[in-house]
Amino acid sequence: MTHDVTLTPVMSDNWDADRSWTLRTYESRGGYSALRKALTMAPDDVITVVKDSGLRGRGGAGFPTGMKWGFIPQGDDKPHYLVVNADEAEPGTCKDIPLMLASPHTLIEGVIISSYAIRASVAFIYIRGEVLHVVRRLQQAVSEAYRAGHLGADIGGSGYALDLVVHAGAGAYICGEETALLDSLEGRRGQPRLRPPFPAVAGLYACPTVINNVESIASVPSIVANGSDWFGSMGTEKSKGMTLYSLSGHVEGPGQYEAPLGITLRQLLDLAGGVRAGHELKFWTPGGSSTPLLTAEHLDVPLDYEAVAGAGSMLGTKALQIFDETTCVVRAVLRWTEFYKHESCGKCTPCREGTWWLVQTLQRLEDGSGTETDLDVLVDLCDNILGRSFCALGDGATSPITSSIEYFRDEYLTHINDGGCPFDPQAATLFAASQHAGARA
Ligand SMILES: Cc1cc2nc3c(=O)[nH]c(=O)nc-3n(C[C@H](O)[C@H](O)[C@H](O)COP(=O)(O)O)c2cc1C
Ligand code: SF4
Repeated sequence: MTHDVTLTPVMSDNWDADRSWTLRTYESRGGYSALRKALTMAPDDVITVVKDSGLRGRGGAGFPTGMKWGFIPQGDDKPHYLVVNADEAEPGTCKDIPLMLASPHTLIEGVIISSYAIRASVAFIYIRGEVLHVVRRLQQAVSEAYRAGHLGADIGGSGYALDLVVHAGAGAYICGEETALLDSLEGRRGQPRLRPPFPAVAGLYACPTVINNVESIASVPSIVANGSDWFGSMGTEKSKGMTLYSLSGHVEGPGQYEAPLGITLRQLLDLAGGVRAGHELKFWTPGGSSTPLLTAEHLDVPLDYEAVAGAGSMLGTKALQIFDETTCVVRAVLRWTEFYKHESCGKCTPCREGTWWLVQTLQRLEDGSGTETDLDVLVDLCDNILGRSFCALGDGATSPITSSIEYFRDEYLTHINDGGCPFDPQAATLFAASQHAGARA
């Protein structure tokens, strides 16, 4: 059965154009006209347009972007900075990297407009260092923008000057946490900072700083070009606009689907050709592995911040990882937990020690040497991590565990009672391998 849905390609509209990443292609499709418009406006008016649009941060927490910009003190004598968070390392999250690869100028135009609005004259893009091809593409695009006079002194003859630095991280998930990112950018070991002071007051080099996700900043040119009402006409009352949903896993057509906030997984699966043929949905993440798992019961939950929270999870980064009935939930959760243990920065005890114990306990359960008491131990450990850790990495590590015990307690018990994992370890991995081969063909 098909359900009426429309894709709303805005940020992804030019991705299929010939050499979409070049300045020539970007400008031939109207690129940088929003910048010209913004430069005729007062900076505060640009902030007002973004505030009125209802744009919320696409990096996970959904904080209103215009409001964040409004926290930057004006009339102070300090430099202001814009820092774009392009670290994208959450398991399942894969939207910012495709965006920067296909259309780096959408982000760069957004950076210039946003920096102008907050009165910054230096901006940084902190990009995950492992994606070297994307780092190079971005650097190339920044050079093109300088040559065209979109960056540097006196941009477009407006008198406004901006320098943009692309900085590659060294591959730590914690450096996506905004204050750890700032420490890393300053040359220190990336660990979260105590707040207050918040970055808007004392961020990079102790100066007022706005940190936004790639997709948040890449949304800005279209808002300036088309107006806040246009943006607000998409989405739901409190979750406005279009956004990138990333489908991965046991789905026929994995990829990026740009659609209004509030679309459901059922509708997205219709667009993506459904769960792989002959199989059915077992569980999924709405926004990466740090968001509590949902099940087939939740296919019709509108994918906006409020409705997903109402269903007991979080919209997060809209990274929809789809798992069918061949997947062992205990093994999947163990894999994620190993990731959190590995990426824990070690600054606080609940997360540093707790994630280690979580892995030990889950490993026992998956091996079939666990007991029912281990389930209580897991819940107790999670209770001691959630809300007691220094940053949200610790909280996120508990999400897949508590939600999987809530929905799949019987599967944990089967592991205990059968003395091992009842699933064929090959079933899921073979499909992943065939998908990968298909993508290359
Ligand atoms: C462990 C951890 C990793 C994070 N990784 C990212 C990331 O890779 N990209 C990102 O934009 N936000 C990430 N965040 C969220 C940022 O701290 C921050 O909320 C976000 O960059 C703000 O941008 P936004 O308001 O545009 O969403 C992470 C948070 C945590 C706790
Ligand atoms: S919660 Fe984990 S990642 Fe965050 S500060 Fe504590 S140890 Fe570091």
